[in-house]
Amino acid sequence: MRMTVIGCGYLGAVHAACMAELGHDVVGVDVDPEKIAALQAARAPFYEPGLPELLERTMASGRLRFTTDIAEAAGSRVHFICVGTPQKKGEFAADLRFVDAAVNSLLPHVGPGELVVGKSTVPVGTASRLAAALQAAQPEAHLVWNPEFLREGFAVQDTLAPDRLVYGLPGGTAQQAAKAVMDEVYATPLSRDTPLVVTDYQTAELVKVAANSFLATKISFINAMAELCETVNADITSLADAIGHDDRIGRKFLNAGLGFGGGCLPKDIRAFMARAGELGADQTLTFLREVDSINMRRRIRMVDLAREVCEGSLIGRRVAVLGAAFKPDSDDIRDSPALNVAAQIRLQGGDVVLTDPAALDNARKALPDIAYAETVEEAVAGAHVVLLLTEWKQYRELAPEALAPLVAEKRILDGRNALDPTRWRTAGWTYRALGRPRT
Ligand code: UDX
Repeated sequence: MRMTVIGCGYLGAVHAACMAELGHDVVGVDVDPEKIAALQAARAPFYEPGLPELLERTMASGRLRFTTDIAEAAGSRVHFICVGTPQKKGEFAADLRFVDAAVNSLLPHVGPGELVVGKSTVPVGTASRLAAALQAAQPEAHLVWNPEFLREGFAVQDTLAPDRLVYGLPGGTAQQAAKAVMDEVYATPLSRDTPLVVTDYQTAELVKVAANSFLATKISFINAMAELCETVNADITSLADAIGHDDRIGRKFLNAGLGFGGGCLPKDIRAFMARAGELGADQTLTFLREVDSINMRRRIRMVDLAREVCEGSLIGRRVAVLGAAFKPDSDDIRDSPALNVAAQIRLQGGDVVLTDPAALDNARKALPDIAYAETVEEAVAGAHVVLLLTEWKQYRELAPEALAPLVAEKRILDGRNALDPTRWRTAGWTYRALGRPRT
C-alpha cells in the first residue's frame, strides 16, 4: 500500500522505516531539510538500535524515500501524522502547532477514499476537530486515531511487533471501510494475533495518555516508597521484588531511582492535567501533580546525597557523572534526570565531568558549562564522588577494583539502583543509593 508519513522525528522516522519493512511503499515528509538530507542518505538523525540497518535495507529495496515536498503525499492511500506535541513554554498544555501545520499542509493533497491517520499524542478532542477540517477539505476522506506506544531503545521492535493496536474510527458508514484499510496497513502484526482495540476518537486519544499516566504513577509510587525506605533505612529493591511477585502488581516499572524523564512521560502527564482543567475536570487528575513532584524531588535528593557524602559542600569537588541520556540505549536528553542533576551540582559549585556512550553531543549543546569525557576512565579521574545516573549496560558492569586507582575518593552514588552494594562496599567504596540502606 502506498502511504505518507508526515513528521520524520523519532516516531515518524521509525514508523516510516517499519511500514516499509512490512512491505508498504512509503514516503516520509518533513519540513526540516537537514533531517531529510540525513534520512535520504539512510542515516538515522538520532540513536536507536536497529534503525540504521532497517533504513539501509528498506531504502535499498526502493520502498522507502524521504522528501521535504508535501505534494508527494498525493496518491497515498494513508497519510500518517507523526509530528511532535511538545509542552508549551511556561505552561503545562501541549503545543499543537506542528499537528495543525502538518494537517493544513496535507489537506490540499488528500483524495477521496484516503485516510488521514493521527499517531501523535494529543489532548482529547483534537481528533474530532481535525476530522471536521478534513471533512471540509475532502468530504470523501476520513480520519482515524491510531496512538503509538513505542519506547525509545525498543522502537523498531515495538513498531514491527506491537503489544496492541488501537484504532479510533469515525462513526457512521465510513467506519467499516476505514477499519478495512487499517487492517491492511497492519496485516502482518494482525496475522500474529496482536490484540486490537477498535473504538471512537476520544477513547483512542485517552488510551495513550492514560497508559503513560499509569506508567508515571507506577514509577512515582515506588519512588515514594524509596523516600520512606531512606527514612527508616529499608531496602527499596527488596520491597519492589516482594510486591512485584504479586501478578496484579507486577515487577516491571518498579525500578526506583532518579525517576522518569524523556520526551513523553513528563510532558504527557502535564498536558493531561491541563486538558482536564480545560474540560472542567481538574480535580480528577490532581494526583498526577503529586506524581510529577515526587519525580522531581528524586533529582533534588540525589544532589543532596552528593553534597552529604562530600562532607556538606560541593564547591570545588570533582564530580564524575556517568550518563546524560534520560534512559539507556538512547541519545535523548529531553527532560533527562541525569542532566538535570549534573546542572544542579554545577550550580552548587561542583566541578562536573560527564560521560555517556551516546548522548555526549546532545548534552554538550544543552549544558555547555560542564566538562565532558569520552570514557568512564577519563570522567572518574581524580573524582571525589562518582554518580551513576543512567544505567547503561557498560556502567552496570563496572568493576570497583578497576575504578579504585583512578578516583580521589572511593565514593559511588547509584542513582538507578543498578549496582551490587555488597560488591562495591567489599572493595572499600562508600556506596549510597536512592532508597537503600546507608551501610
Ligand atoms: C514511554 C512509554 O513507555 C511508551 O509506551 C510511550 O510510547 C512513550 O513514553 P519512553 O519515554 O521511551 O517510553 O521510556 P520508558 O522506557 O517508558 O521510560 C521512561 C522513563 O522512566 C525513563 O526515564 C526511565 O529511566 C524511567 N523509569 C522507567 C524508571 O525510573 N523506573 C522504571 O521502573 C521504569
